[in-house]
Amino acid sequence: MLRRGRLVALPTETVYGLAARALDPSSVARIFAAKGRPTHHPLIVHVLDEDGARALAASWPARASALAQAFWPGPLTLVVERAPRLDAAVAGGGDSIALRAPSHAVARAVIEALGEPVAAPSANRYQGLSPTTAAHVVKELGAAADLVLDAGPCHAGIESTVVDVRGATARVLRPGAISSAALRAVVPELDAGAAAVASSAPRASPGMGLRHYAPRAQLHLAASVEAARSQSAELAAGGTRVGLVVREASKQTTGGSIVVRVLPADAEGYARALYGALHELDDAGVGAIVVHEAPAEEAWWAVADRLRRASQRE
Ligand code: TXA
Ligand code: MG
Repeated sequence: MLRRGRLVALPTETVYGLAARALDPSSVARIFAAKGRPTHHPLIVHVLDEDGARALAASWPARASALAQAFWPGPLTLVVERAPRLDAAVAGGGDSIALRAPSHAVARAVIEALGEPVAAPSANRYQGLSPTTAAHVVKELGAAADLVLDAGPCHAGIESTVVDVRGATARVLRPGAISSAALRAVVPELDAGAAAVASSAPRASPGMGLRHYAPRAQLHLAASVEAARSQSAELAAGGTRVGLVVREASKQTTGGSIVVRVLPADAEGYARALYGALHELDDAGVGAIVVHEAPAEEAWWAVADRLRRASQRE
């Protein structure tokens, strides 16, 4: 199907992706159309290994090699100069390109069988919640995906970490499944993007508006469990069906029209479960979701980033 220019949703270790032939402009155009994604928003191209990535890069800094050797195959995306053989449309019209070698056996088998790189954004509509199961993909994209490969839930459950390796220091553009601490062990002079995480400024990645990763229900962030509880009670009292998301070990709230989801207390476990919980709450038809915000620790930055973006209004 990929050879015929079709779109195939496939599992990766982070989230499900919507794949098409990266070297074929009309396949790439179909991805943007299926997602309703603005054409200036660049795609990640998936390859098998560092050699595959180098073939798509106009230059490959030593830092890219060091990071690829440490984290590939795996949930790290490297932004480098785009090779001319890659159409600018894949890159949202820019002269850089985001590349990653996924570790998921199914994603790898597809790239290997095709014998070409695939462009694959998360398999959701523009600004929507990323899918961590095949059922999420079907719900979000319906017939817009020509084929969905189901390999069960994704392991990381949150997107890859995007690192720009073109400048004098490596810079995190999107915090993700690989922590800044792990990256720093390989590239000590890392700009972890703290400013972007702490503020509500749009991310450095091109085409990345502030609202993103959002469920259909309005998401509210609360600074403490107590605040989350009282905010959900208030919304529920006003007649809204409410979802409440807290971390394990916080005392249980039950009852009424509040649907509670308790997520793991560790950052990795929480990331794995978060999108699934938000999908479930959307499916349950809640009108609002109140989430106890992530701890202000670096290990939680990827989760904090997604929650903050999900809470933005249009
Ligand atoms: O885990 C993942 O990365 C998943 C799976 C399917 O691989 N893919 C994914 O793709 O999340 P997408 O398109 O939903 O998000 C791509 C991210 C965006 O934040 C985008 O701005 C950034 O990567 N990005 C892509 N190309 C870029 C470029 N040339 N320069 C800077 N940022 C780029
Ligand atoms: Mg996405």
